[in-house]
Amino acid sequence: MMQGTNVTVNATVGIDKINFYTPNHYLDLVDLAQARGVDPNKFLIGIGQSKMSVAALDQDIVAMAANAAEPMLSADDRQKIGLLIVATESSIDQSKAAALFVQDLLELTGNLRAIEIKEACYGATAGIQLACDYVRSHPGRKALVIASDIARYGLDTPGEVTQGAGAVAMLVASDPAILAIEPESLYESRSTGDFWRPNYSTLAFARGKFSEEVYIGMFEELWAKAQDQEMANPEHLQALLFHIPFSKMGRKGLRTLGGGKIAEADYVRLTERFEQSIVYGKEVGNIYTGSIYLALLSLLENDESLRAGDRIGFYSYGSGSVAELYFGTLQPNYRQRLDVQAHRTLLDNRERLDMREYEAMFSAALVTDGSEQDLGRSDHSVAAPHYLAGVKNHERQYR
Ligand code: CAA
Repeated sequence: MMQGTNVTVNATVGIDKINFYTPNHYLDLVDLAQARGVDPNKFLIGIGQSKMSVAALDQDIVAMAANAAEPMLSADDRQKIGLLIVATESSIDQSKAAALFVQDLLELTGNLRAIEIKEACYGATAGIQLACDYVRSHPGRKALVIASDIARYGLDTPGEVTQGAGAVAMLVASDPAILAIEPESLYESRSTGDFWRPNYSTLAFARGKFSEEVYIGMFEELWAKAQDQEMANPEHLQALLFHIPFSKMGRKGLRTLGGGKIAEADYVRLTERFEQSIVYGKEVGNIYTGSIYLALLSLLENDESLRAGDRIGFYSYGSGSVAELYFGTLQPNYRQRLDVQAHRTLLDNRERLDMREYEAMFSAALVTDGSEQDLGRSDHSVAAPHYLAGVKNHERQYR
């Protein structure tokens, strides 16, 4: 404990709870490959994805965010949350923060700051770092950070196979049960034109190969800086998580450490752990800013060999571009905070769409002319108590 003049700063802050939600429909990427006249192995091996979740209109980023957070919050958490951040690049409003709708749905108190953060796939990491700073300066209070996105590149585009939908909610608190996050990290911002979505477009534009170059280049720079500053001794790193727009992208990042750059034993260990970190993402697809946190959950829930005290690295990347390399330590009893069964059920109970159903769901849109629209409820499971019921006078109506 460090004593400040007015506040007591607790040195251990980080992720206390984590949960995710993904919509209950998916497209099998072999079906997509066949429909687009592509060898399925390009998607399964070349891109490294097997399925992608598809969101119906009623599971927008607000509904998904609330569904991700709902099951993990106790009454005490709801009282103590003083900062609510929704990180997204699939924003539903140019003015009002998605966090305000989420605050309402989760029945949080009004005694909090509710904001939305945007910086492509980096947004949630910005949220986590702000949340850690908030909790360090407000010990006893908590922060809820939710990453929620629907990745949309368009039908029959090169990016189509790298779509997906979902939300990851994380509660940041003092003396966290899962991961203590180190205050020192390395970051870099650099204006690039690798990926963007103008206000008038519901689809993203990407210079795909260039985006891969920037992602890798920024990783290499931050990793080199981390070595110079002795922040990332590979021998003491039990896992290295990457932003995973598709699993091959993270694999390419990790491979930059191969070929003798780090000791073979460390590279083998990081590669084995990487395989566990992509289990969920390969089935869900790209959830943009939540992807690296879905990778964290996937690692924690699928890897049996991790132990309390293990140090984990995070390479977070957001197009445009901002990147950050930071580190955290697994806490005793972190496994007790995980709900592997619920997450497996969520993935296994999804309904497979055929191409016609996928294209119809992808092309469906909310009215934009002020008329009234009622939506059917797509997910009746316990995992989705929140949904968008419709639109009235240009306003979304949630239940
Ligand atoms: N069997 C096995 N592998 C095959 C194959 C087959 N039959 N056919 C092709 N492949 C391999 C290729 O060799 C290639 O491998 P490498 O990448 O290792 O070279 C891989 O499959 C992809 O094939 P292409 O090179 O032909 O790629 P493409 O032109 O179809 O596009 C893409 C791939 C650029 C990733 C595209 O999907 C895209 O633009 N996606 C969106 C952009 C993106 O996600 N960028 C990532 C970094 S930016 C970011 O991370 C932010 C974010 O979330 C958006």
